[in-house]
Order: sequence, then C-alpha cells, then structure tokens
Amino acid sequence: MVTPAHHPTEAAATAAEQPNSTELDGAALRQAFGAYPTGVVALGALRDGEPVGLAVSSFVSISLEPPMVAVSVARTSTTWPRLTEAPELGLSVLSRGQGALCRRLASRAGDRFDGTGWQATPGGAVLIHDAALWLTARTHAVYDGGDHEIVLLELLTVELFPGVEPLVFHTSQFRELTPHG
Ligand SMILES: Cc1cc2nc3c(=O)[nH]c(=O)nc-3n(C[C@H](O)[C@H](O)[C@H](O)COP(=O)(O)O)c2cc1C
Repeated sequence: MVTPAHHPTEAAATAAEQPNSTELDGAALRQAFGAYPTGVVALGALRDGEPVGLAVSSFVSISLEPPMVAVSVARTSTTWPRLTEAPELGLSVLSRGQGALCRRLASRAGDRFDGTGWQATPGGAVLIHDAALWLTARTHAVYDGGDHEIVLLELLTVELFPGVEPLVFHTSQFRELTPHG
C-alpha cells in the first residue's frame, strides 16, 4: 500500500480523518463530491426582459485558445432549458458574503433575483453585482454527462474584480478563504 506523504497514517488519523468507504449511492456521492471545495457561479440571462438564472458549483476552466469554460447542469433543471435559448449567458463568480444569494439562486421558491443588484449586457447576459469575476459566453457544445449535461461555453468577455474574495462551497457549507501559513 502506498501512503502519500500528506495522508494521515491509520495510527495517527483522528476520527474525522479515518477513511470511510461507502456505496456509490446518491447520498454518498453527494457527500463525496462535497469533499472537493469549489467556488460558486451564477449563470444568468434575460428571458422576456426578466433575469433567469441558477447557481452552479460545477464550473471549470477548460481552454485558453479558444477561451472556454464548462459547467454541468442537471437534466432535471427547469431553468437551464430557458437559459440555453439565450444568445448570451452571464457567469458571475460569487463573492464572500454572497452565500444567501447563492441559496436564493438555487431555490425553487420565490424570485431568485429579489433584492440582488444585477445588470444585463446588450446581448442579454445577466451579471451579478459585487461578484469576484464576470464572464459572458455562448454555448459551444453540449455533451452527455449522465444525469447532467456537460455544457462547453465559449467566452466572449472577461471582467475581473481584483481583491474581491470568492465564496467557497465545501461539505454543503459556504466558507471563505484564509491565507495559509
Ligand atoms: C452551491 C450550489 C451548487 C450547485 N451546483 C449546481 C450545478 O453545478 N449544476 C446544477 O445543475 N445544479 C446545481 N445546483 C442546483 C441549482 O442551483 C438549482 O437548485 C437547480 O437547478 C434547481 O432549479 P431549476 O429547476 O430552476 O433549475 C447547485 C446549488 C447550490 C446551492
């Protein structure tokens, strides 16, 4: 057995660090995937003049040339079919302190944009105020991702807000970054 240098040995492991092998059922997988910390991105576009959007943690950078990112969207999503018809999509990397907004953007009850500052580009991409990063994009390709669709997005614009700290999502909780050491 190979013991990686930074992995606790069995003798040294605390209860919280003990390896825990479970079945590949939905609950266990959700917990397992939640062990990987991510940021959270608000996808948004105007539909009939109103902002439509949802929160995703599946955002990943893909390519520099051409510039591309990807997200995976649940096939059960009722919002994605509306977003995918939009010519341009906004992606806002949520910032520290926007955890409640993220929950609202994931909720099936109420107006997701209520009380939130946002603006739309001429192409109809919806961008959230006070985010850490704004991207606009259009769908390049969609791939099978099991119960999700993997959406490859070609970037149109990038606007970074230096110094704005991102929101971090880990083990079903919103967290913030702290410098190491
Ligand atoms: C932190 C967080 C991350 C999420 N990440 C994703 C994701 O990557 N893909 C996805 O399809 N839904 C994700 N969701 C769920 C959606 O935000 C939303 O709840 C879901 O799409 C249901 O709403 P809808 O039917 O309007 O699409 C996430 C929710 C939260 C709170």
